[in-house]
Amino acid sequence: MANEKFTSLTIPLLKAKKASGEKIVAVTAYDFPTARLADEAGMDIILVGDSLGMVVLGYENTLPVTMEEMVHHTRAVSRGVKRAFLVADMPYFSFHLSPDETIKNAARFIKEAGAKAVKIEGASPRRLEVIEALIEAEIPVMGHIGLTPQSIYRFGQYRLRGSDWEEAKRIIKEARELEKRGCFSLVIECVPEELGKIITEEVSIPTIGIGAGRFCDGQILVFHDLVGLTDGHLPKFVRKYADLASLIKEALMKYAREVIEGIYPDLEHTYHLKPDQIKFLSRLKTKFPRSSQKKIRKRSS
Ligand code: KIV
Repeated sequence: MANEKFTSLTIPLLKAKKASGEKIVAVTAYDFPTARLADEAGMDIILVGDSLGMVVLGYENTLPVTMEEMVHHTRAVSRGVKRAFLVADMPYFSFHLSPDETIKNAARFIKEAGAKAVKIEGASPRRLEVIEALIEAEIPVMGHIGLTPQSIYRFGQYRLRGSDWEEAKRIIKEARELEKRGCFSLVIECVPEELGKIITEEVSIPTIGIGAGRFCDGQILVFHDLVGLTDGHLPKFVRKYADLASLIKEALMKYAREVIEGIYPDLEHTYHLKPDQIKFLSRLKTKFPRSSQKKIRKRSS
């Protein structure tokens, strides 16, 4: 497709990718410069994930992330996105009280922050009700099944989901329900590839895998994991495409060394006056010697 790179992504175009077998590429972003880079690199979907809490804000998990933080970062991201389909993650406790409260919160992402859809974790009966209400309010919803990080206190750890028959059956049922209620796509996180494949064949909406194997309609990774900015353990499914942490640390250490040793700033990175301006400045110096400058300052304070 000749102009594909410049066509803004829409839900029908994302669905067409599934139909044609063309893979969908997605990544998270949390600020203007990375959003711009991700967009220019040709991402189809950019998600302002609540992983923001862990990779940018330094929380232990995603639960403390607030609506204010998510809206603030989504606004920054949307300024950098021209082509990708921008999705904002509904943070913990922004969709748990009632459908009305959820619509109010979700609408902020659309009206104030420039997102085109929201993502919601889980598929319990109450969750499905809320998702239906959002879609009825013209807010497209991306579902999220498998490992749902907001359930960390219930499960105690981030681990593979759907590796036993009962859990796999439940996740397939959730995928069908989410499609039925009108989700435009599904994130499937941390499940065996076989399960990712069954769900992808089972539903007509695009599946976006993160640790769900090769057969999903698309893939998503957390930006900081893929560029090597995450400190500590990375899940098995992450491929680190760069080691930015080392590059950044190296640059900062070099800068510090050069400042300490007087190498930076050098002449090239310094502003200079023209010779006649220098003469003028030295005349000023003799007109106002240091002692009189002090007196002038004292009088004016
Ligand atoms: O918050 C997030 O980054 C996510 C992705 C892992 C899908 O939900």
